Order: sequence, then structure tokens, then C-alpha cells
Amino acid sequence: MNSYDSQRISDTFMGSGHKIAKSINEADVVVLNTCSIREKADEKIFSDLGRLKSIKERSSGNFIIVVVGCMAQLRSQDILKRAPYVDAILGPQNIQQINAIVDDLIKNKVLDTIVFTSMNVEDKFAQLRNKISSRNVSEFLTIQEGCNNFCTYCVVPNTRGREFSRNVSDIINEAKNLISLGVKEITLLGQNVNSYSGKSLDGGTCNLAHLLFELANIHGLKRLRYTTSHPKDVDYSIAKAHKEIEILTPFVHLPVQSGSNNVLKKMNRKYTREEYFKCIDMLREHRTDMAFSSDFIVGFPGETDDDFQQTLELIKKVNYAQSYSFKYNPRPNTAAALMDNQISEDVKSERLRILQDLLNDQQSKFNQNSVGHRFQVLFVKSGKHEKQFVGRNEYSQAVSVRANNISIGDIANVKITETASHSLIGAIEL
Ligand code: 5AD
Ligand code: SF4
Repeated sequence: MNSYDSQRISDTFMGSGHKIAKSINEADVVVLNTCSIREKADEKIFSDLGRLKSIKERSSGNFIIVVVGCMAQLRSQDILKRAPYVDAILGPQNIQQINAIVDDLIKNKVLDTIVFTSMNVEDKFAQLRNKISSRNVSEFLTIQEGCNNFCTYCVVPNTRGREFSRNVSDIINEAKNLISLGVKEITLLGQNVNSYSGKSLDGGTCNLAHLLFELANIHGLKRLRYTTSHPKDVDYSIAKAHKEIEILTPFVHLPVQSGSNNVLKKMNRKYTREEYFKCIDMLREHRTDMAFSSDFIVGFPGETDDDFQQTLELIKKVNYAQSYSFKYNPRPNTAAALMDNQISEDVKSERLRILQDLLNDQQSKFNQNSVGHRFQVLFVKSGKHEKQFVGRNEYSQAVSVRANNISIGDIANVKITETASHSLIGAIEL
């Protein structure tokens, strides 16, 4: 979602005649789009700001520093205190104002840091929607933002606010706009993308499955994905969409976080491991070639060895194609940060190592098993070698081929011949 926001920020600047600087030394304006999901991401900004401060002190002309995103929302007071040389601080629902603010900062000497952190999500999309100047064949499209779930470890409901769904006509217009600029693959984004509930074309409400059917009809769109789904909102309609929509990939990111019902309850995830298995089974019944990725948190407060073993068991049962895993990190103003029985760093590190060994093993087996199989590969860039092209298949695996007649944006049938360290190698089949 930060990538999508960054793209929109760059689009609004380009739309009014600004250009992307080749290096930081040539820039008049630097925008840091920040994350605060874990502490590391958010502390990193202060070291980046330290470096920018010395460039600002040396620069003779404009050197405007703007901090946007979730960390800006959450820690505006800290930024004001620790980095008073920052010119503007904008929360994620205020980025639509960036161009006007920067123009003002260029024209007028403004001494105080400008701070905007209100929840203006509707206004954000209203102002940003007509300013698309995409350049890639695969692009994100935010359809839903914010979260009502309040998982006890997560800062997102505090940084992006409550759930908001864009209406269908806006989304279709943005998708058509992207396709007219050469985009072939669109990934729909939302914190809870499958709780999407937007105004439909006939004035009713539209869920994610219906939206996918609408988008699949747009001429020129070759591939659709969506992320991130919450297991509690997986229903029959989405399974049916996977069965019936040819351009919808058979690959779903379905974060489980933990395999223990005790931990899931304390996390306020609103599903049990049994319900999670039911989602997986339903999706696999509708598409036998369905694969899954997930997020995991180890060392949540009170997680016992037995809870952790249940997570490992769940992983073995589901068999993931890809995963992201993290040590639990206490975040400000979240319920879990105040819970008893916080787990020591050593135990978290040890559990993460065991979990990642298992997940890496599953991922390499998934890659190994691809050898000899055929996939539809969307080519996104040229490779390092002559006549080499790199693309992504339905499962987001990087695939490289040597070929004469490929253009970026083509989709071709590729048979995988071998695996490399981070990609698959294949040959085009006619
Ligand atoms: N500590 C560790 N991981 C977290 N995530 C979210 N909040 C935390 C936290 N406090 C992880 C979850 C989520 C992913 C985006 O980040 O696994 O799905
Ligand atoms: Fe955070 Fe939970 Fe909402 Fe996802 S569903 S954004 S993890 S609170």
C-alpha cells in the first residue's frame, strides 16, 4: 500500500511539472514514505533524517523534507522534537495535499513544520484518482483502506483509520486508465481486501468477488490479483470467482499469524485454526492448482512451546508456496503491548529460526516442483544477459527465459527447465 501511495505522490508531482531527480543531491524535495508496522522500520527513518539534515545544511537552494505515511501519522510529535528541520509531516490519508504544500514551501518561507494527520480517506481518493501516470506492466490499485479488526498486536487501525471502500465506478475508471497506459496485471489492495464493500454501479453494494467479475471484463487486462485477505472474510463467492475468472491467479495471500487457537484468540483474529483449514479446503476444492502464502508472528505474549508446535503443524498441513514471518514486536497503543508474559528475544529468535527453516524448505520444494511444468509468464523487464527476459508466473515466481521475439508486457506459455537461487529458468513454448 505504501508503494501505491508513493506512486500516487510521484504522479501528483509529475502532473504539475516536477521531475524525479536522478540523485538526492539534485533534488529540491525529498519525500520519505514511512512504515510503522514494526519498530525497526520506524526507527530507520530517524537515521535517514539525520543524513538528510546534513545535506539540507550544505544545500544552497531548496531542500524540502517531507515525511509521510504511517510513522508520520503515529510519531509526528517525535519527529517535531527529534527532527525539527523536517518541513512537513503528512499522515497516509493526507498525501493528496503534498503538491500544494510543497509549492507553498518553495514560494514562501515557512518556518514551522506543517503537520496534517487527520483521517481524510475519501478526500484522498477523490483528489488522487485522475492523476495516474503509470509506467510498469504490473501495478497496484487500492480498493479499500483502513481496518476495523484491531488485532491486538497491530498499529494499522491507528495509522490508516477505519475501513473505507472506494466505489466500483472509481475503481473501474482507474483500472481502465492503467490499462490504457500499458498495464497488463493489476493487484487490488486493501488492509482487508476481502471485506471490500463498495458502492456498485447500480447504487447497491458490491463485494470483492463481484468487483473481480466486473474488472475481469475490461478488455486488455491480462491478470488480476488481490491482497491482503483476512481468513474471517473468506466466503463461497470468492472461491467461485477463483473457479470462474480465468485471469484471476490461483495464488492467495492468507495470513494466519499463528496455528494455536489460544494465541489466535489473544490476537483477536476472530477465527480458529479449524476455520482457517476450512477456508484453505474450500479454495482448493474450487481450484485444484491453488497455492497459498501467509504471514506469521512468533513469540506473541504468552505463546507456549505447545502453541508454537501447533503453528509448525499447521504449516505442514497447509504447505505454503511463500511466506513472511516476524518476531512479535510490541507497538504503541496496542493491547498486546500491555499483556503479561512477554516472550524473551532469545526464545523469539529461536522460534523464528525453526519456523523459517520449515517455510524456506516448503518454498524451495514448491520451486523445485515447478520444473517440467508450464506457466503463463508475464514479462516485466529485460534480464542482465542478451535476449534474456524476466517475468512472473501465476504464483509470482520470477521466471527468466532467453528469447528473440519478446516484448515487455507479453504473456507467454513457458516450460520450466531448472531452478536458480531466486528464480526459475524456462523456455517459451509456442
Ligand atoms: N509484530 C510483528 N509482526 C507484526 N505484523 C503486524 N504487526 C506486527 C507486530 N506488532 C505482521 C503481521 C502482518 C504483517 C503485515 O506484519 O504478520 O500480517
Ligand atoms: Fe492489522 Fe489485523 Fe487489521 Fe491486518 S486485520 S491491518 S493485522 S489489525
